Amino acid sequence: MKSRIALAALAVVALFGAPQTPAQDAPAQDAAAVTGDAGRGKTLAYTCLGCHGIENYKNANPVYRVPLLRGQHPEYIAIALNAYKNGERSHATMHSQAVSMTEQDIADVAVFLAGTPIVAAENANPVGKPPTAAAACVACHGTDGVGIVGMYPTLAGQYPDYIERALHDYQRGNRKNDIMAGFVGELTEADIAALAAYYSRQQPKLQIIPKRRFWFTAND
Ligand code: HEC
Ligand code: HEC
Repeated sequence: MKSRIALAALAVVALFGAPQTPAQDAPAQDAAAVTGDAGRGKTLAYTCLGCHGIENYKNANPVYRVPLLRGQHPEYIAIALNAYKNGERSHATMHSQAVSMTEQDIADVAVFLAGTPIVAAENANPVGKPPTAAAACVACHGTDGVGIVGMYPTLAGQYPDYIERALHDYQRGNRKNDIMAGFVGELTEADIAALAAYYSRQQPKLQIIPKRRFWFTAND
């Protein structure tokens, strides 16, 4: 119900333009306090689609696929952009993309990129048998890979090589997050491969952001 209301609000925003929330009224760390405008986000996200709008586009050195964002929680996208911006999460390209973005830019881009966030099925129906290691993950990433709240990323349908990359980064401490650090310590290489394969085949799944079209749906 809540998400229906949020979607309806998004649609209204898409049609009529968001009321301008002055960024300085929002607490600096609280991205959710800024209302995103998908129409403005679409314009700002033009360069992002050079990588995030191309199916199977690869990061070079090391090689892994650029993460899928359509269907992700906008809250998580905003958290990720803030982390690249302030250096908590290190990736040279993404840092240079995020560093000059304001809170409002981040909120706008996040709602555009997310589009209609995936919602968990009423009776979660995971595809295939979960690997044993997944028992520790469902509390936050859901039975079918849909993050149970906006700050927990959805993993369903994400590229498996990106999921592996992320888990290795948490293990090596290249990506610093207190919550995830507590869950990756015990994972073996076989666990990581099984978890990545499992989450990447869940449905409904994250998608590539469609190429720009010229008719007026704010989320395309
Ligand atoms: C040159 C290619 C490239 C461009 C352009 C680019 N990205 Fe990225 N993006 C990446 C790669 C590679 C990663 C994964 C980096 C990592 O391992 O942390 C990433 C990660 C992300 C993530 C984190 C996703 C997750 O699941 O944690 C978000 C959000 C994101 N990008 C948004 C954007 C936005 C917004 C723009 C435009 C302002 C943009 N990207 C432009 C390559 C790119
Ligand atoms: C207590 C909640 C919680 C649990 C349990 C948990 N996670 Fe996470 N997970 C998070 C949060 C929060 C993030 C985002 C952290 C960040 O910003 O880097 C995350 C991020 C991730 C990412 C990166 C996603 C992306 O798009 O970059 C992967 C992959 C992941 N978790 C897999 C797992 C796996 C596999 C397990 C079980 C072994 C697990 N998580 C258990 C909360 C949790």
